[in-house]
Amino acid sequence: MAKTVTIALPNGAKYEQPTGQFIGNQFVQGSGDCFSTVSPVTEEEILKLQGASTTDVDKAVAAAREAFNGPWSQLPAIERGAYLYKLAELIDRNRELLAAIDAYDNGKTFSGALTGDLDEAYNVFRYYAGAADKISGQTIETSPAKLAYVVQEPLGVCAQIVPWNYPFMMLAWKIAPALACGNTVVLKPAEQTPLSALYFGNLVIEAGLPAGVVNIISGLGPTTGSALANHADVDKVAFTGSTATGKSIMKAAASNLKNVTLECGGKSPSVVFADADFEQAVKWTHFGIMENSGEVCTSTSRIYVEESIYDKFVERFVEVTQDNDKVGDNFNEATYYGAQISKTQFDKVLGYIEDGKKSGAKLLYGGARSGSQGYFIQPTVFVDTTEDMKIVREEIFGPVVVISKFKTEDEVVYKCNDTSYGLAAALFTENVSKAHLVARRLQAGMVWINSSGDSHFGIPFGGYKSSGIGRELGKYALDAYTQAKAVHVNLGSKL
Ligand code: NAI
Ligand code: MG
Repeated sequence: MAKTVTIALPNGAKYEQPTGQFIGNQFVQGSGDCFSTVSPVTEEEILKLQGASTTDVDKAVAAAREAFNGPWSQLPAIERGAYLYKLAELIDRNRELLAAIDAYDNGKTFSGALTGDLDEAYNVFRYYAGAADKISGQTIETSPAKLAYVVQEPLGVCAQIVPWNYPFMMLAWKIAPALACGNTVVLKPAEQTPLSALYFGNLVIEAGLPAGVVNIISGLGPTTGSALANHADVDKVAFTGSTATGKSIMKAAASNLKNVTLECGGKSPSVVFADADFEQAVKWTHFGIMENSGEVCTSTSRIYVEESIYDKFVERFVEVTQDNDKVGDNFNEATYYGAQISKTQFDKVLGYIEDGKKSGAKLLYGGARSGSQGYFIQPTVFVDTTEDMKIVREEIFGPVVVISKFKTEDEVVYKCNDTSYGLAAALFTENVSKAHLVARRLQAGMVWINSSGDSHFGIPFGGYKSSGIGRELGKYALDAYTQAKAVHVNLGSKL
């Protein structure tokens, strides 16, 4: 058995953190590469962990396979749902602790983790608990002497590789629908934020799930993650993260034609028409890029404003940015911006800011690190940007926005779609027809009208183009975690 370590959280709470690999309902010592998870606020190491080696990955997949073939496949669907309700209850009971763990490990605000990530995780488990026994196939009319019906069956063992920006919430999005459909899972959290996922192993034991239904292995992407994505006995790989890693996972999945769901990067636009509710458009576009310190795949990082209101919009946007410019202690209620996840991301975001300054974009707000300790970055507003600039074309994944003006609807629709990404898009207008017509023209998996950043466990989430393949959440995830079996019955047709 692997040891646990007592961790003192910044809010004064203490808890026992499991450090091993959670395989077959036990925490076992990993035998792979060692890695550290740090607090992005203090820049200090929280814990050193030994990741899962290829052998550990084999063991986790074998445990998931055994559970899939054994106890899990024998359960009535409503009992799978009952386990998910138990997990939901346990998540709710441990809500404060899990939010504090994620805030400590990730650097995000504790209040955001509590009311964003944890509430969502709880609801996702409840939603799929209720869905477990409502998965249905169909019967199809063929001929009077024949009957054909279709059953939706689970895929088998699902590998799930998640990122660091919403550690526990991403776990919920992945595990809950997979289990509801009757699959078993091996999940790998990001190496920057492994703590809450490993802790979840305790809840799996407490909920009494059969051993091997949920396995959690930590480790680095190129070793542990890659071994999991390549594994010959894995039936599906579900991934959230960068488009570059998504592509390599898809290649790995080709080895045995695994089913894939990929949710990758974005450079999502906001379009503000002159007839929009002005104040609301400013506030929603600000929220759309700055929430979660800009570390959101769907963040609306490009804002296009109709020429006649451009100057006024920019002025008010900067005021709202200033009003919310509370960077710092992520356990303080008043803080808006926590720290960026890592030194790598911090340097990457600052690099984009420097590139923006050099490229001739006008820096109106921020543009530097905040304070002298921790990976904090000032909210940053560039205006008068042009479409060829790197800061307009590439995903920055930080609190950095670019704003420019447009004259016509055709022009702005072209600019919005002129990207390899297609995750989300927001538009602001009080004209109902224009709203729906423009929504139709935008190449994105999600469009927000007079809003931004909305996601809901009942609504499909995913992207067009290089932003991904497949959809998570809602009933769409039930398709993503099942496969159709067609059964042809001969009722008496003779040869
Ligand atoms: P990443 O995509 O490399 O990491 C995400 C997950 O994939 C982690 O669990 C990681 O261990 C795993 N991984 C990495 N390489 C792998 C491989 N070869 N095989 C299997 N698994 C692998 O993202 P990273 O490097 O942390 O961040 C880079 C950029 O990705 C960010 O700057 C941001 O632009 C984007 N990103 C997008 C996210 C989203 O929600 N769509 C979330 C996090 C990052
Ligand atoms: Mg960390």
